[in-house]
Amino acid sequence: MKWLESVATHMGLVRDGPAPLRKHPALWEYFGMIFQQIVNEETGCLSYLIGCGQAGRAAVVDPGRDRVDEYLALARRKGLVITDIFETHVHADHVSGNQALAGKCGARIRIHPAAEAAYPHTPVEDGSEVSIGAVSLKILHTPGHTPDSISLLVTDLSRGSEPWFVLTGDTLFVGDVGRPDFGGEMAAANLYRSLTERLLVLPDSVEVYPAHGAGSTCGRAMSSKTASTIGFERRFNPALRVDAVDAFVTRLMTGLPPKPPNFDRIIAKNRARMLPSTGEVAPRSAAQVRDILAKGGCVLDVRSPEEHGDGHIPGSINVWIESPQFSTRAGWFLPADAPIVLVAASPTDLARAAQGLARIGLDDVAGYLQWGMTDWRSQGLPVASVAQVTVHDLATMREERPELSSSSGRTGTSRARCTCPWGRRSAAWPSCPWTGPRRCSAPAACARAR
Ligand SMILES: [Fe+2]
Repeated sequence: MKWLESVATHMGLVRDGPAPLRKHPALWEYFGMIFQQIVNEETGCLSYLIGCGQAGRAAVVDPGRDRVDEYLALARRKGLVITDIFETHVHADHVSGNQALAGKCGARIRIHPAAEAAYPHTPVEDGSEVSIGAVSLKILHTPGHTPDSISLLVTDLSRGSEPWFVLTGDTLFVGDVGRPDFGGEMAAANLYRSLTERLLVLPDSVEVYPAHGAGSTCGRAMSSKTASTIGFERRFNPALRVDAVDAFVTRLMTGLPPKPPNFDRIIAKNRARMLPSTGEVAPRSAAQVRDILAKGGCVLDVRSPEEHGDGHIPGSINVWIESPQFSTRAGWFLPADAPIVLVAASPTDLARAAQGLARIGLDDVAGYLQWGMTDWRSQGLPVASVAQVTVHDLATMREERPELSSSSGRTGTSRARCTCPWGRRSAAWPSCPWTGPRRCSAPAACARAR
């Protein structure tokens, strides 16, 4: 294919410098703006790659820690070199990948001074512009959600001088606005001013790309749609249907969802210098896991509720790897300063779990139970269980035994604390309905229930 390379060189399609040439690019990609939204469905996080095909350069906005290699591969496929990284604010719900990405590609990190970032960065100021070839990114300081929040107004100068879209961070979502997490009513008032004086004054046609979509804990009623326009949000965003700052603040501050307990820790992590994470989790024998737990460690069991219910390490926390927002759920329950031991059903689940924990800044993973519960049992270590019953059986049981109390349901099955009628067998339930004819495996819970 030497002749093809020489033709490409002759046509001026081969650039000097480090940007690799994509083998079969669409011709327009060499000259126009390249834009890609990267969706993390698990956390509802949205990040962006914005590049100039002609210059062979790109910026990444709000990179996630678990997607660093994806940004690099995406840029490589499109023949771009990542030269700039923007943070729209210091995130509270996930750990940023800005330092890891900068470490791999040498890009400079740009963030507002109010972020108080302790790592090397280039501060951005309101009104300043950064050029990525023919693409202009204008900084709009839009405090409210956080004091350092910025929006990026993007113009493709190869097409025209009017702005095309705006990256709104956590200031404006599709169908919602950011929550003023730390500043209370004053922050809510600042958010109102940022929205009305900086964003809603833009032309109707300007597209809106936020930092989060549905599934995120950073808002209340975000749409599952991940893009909109200023005109549509001005007309149909419920949070913007007020015309006075007082009404806006009252609405925003009423019924705020509880703040996840790990938000403060993630913010501190996102402000600090961060060491690169290897992502590797060490195998541990049952005896080693026992010792880790004796020193204050905890177990995160990511197997299915059924597998966990059948037998698990006493005291372990069960968050199924397949459950929506796995890492967010785990972050609600895991202690911040205890080494974590993982119990997983497969190497794939193990890798996903470690990645999910790294996403929310839980790096202290002491290892995983190498041979699973088989090893744990064979060592004669204690095993706990949680009784399981299908929703259909539970419905029948409740009809026959109205005094029976049940707990939360799950798809397909319902979990209930063992109210084993051991010693209270009836004609309808000749043996324990949860554990079968064998002896109840959770006699302590059974006794509590009685
Ligand atoms: Fe945020």
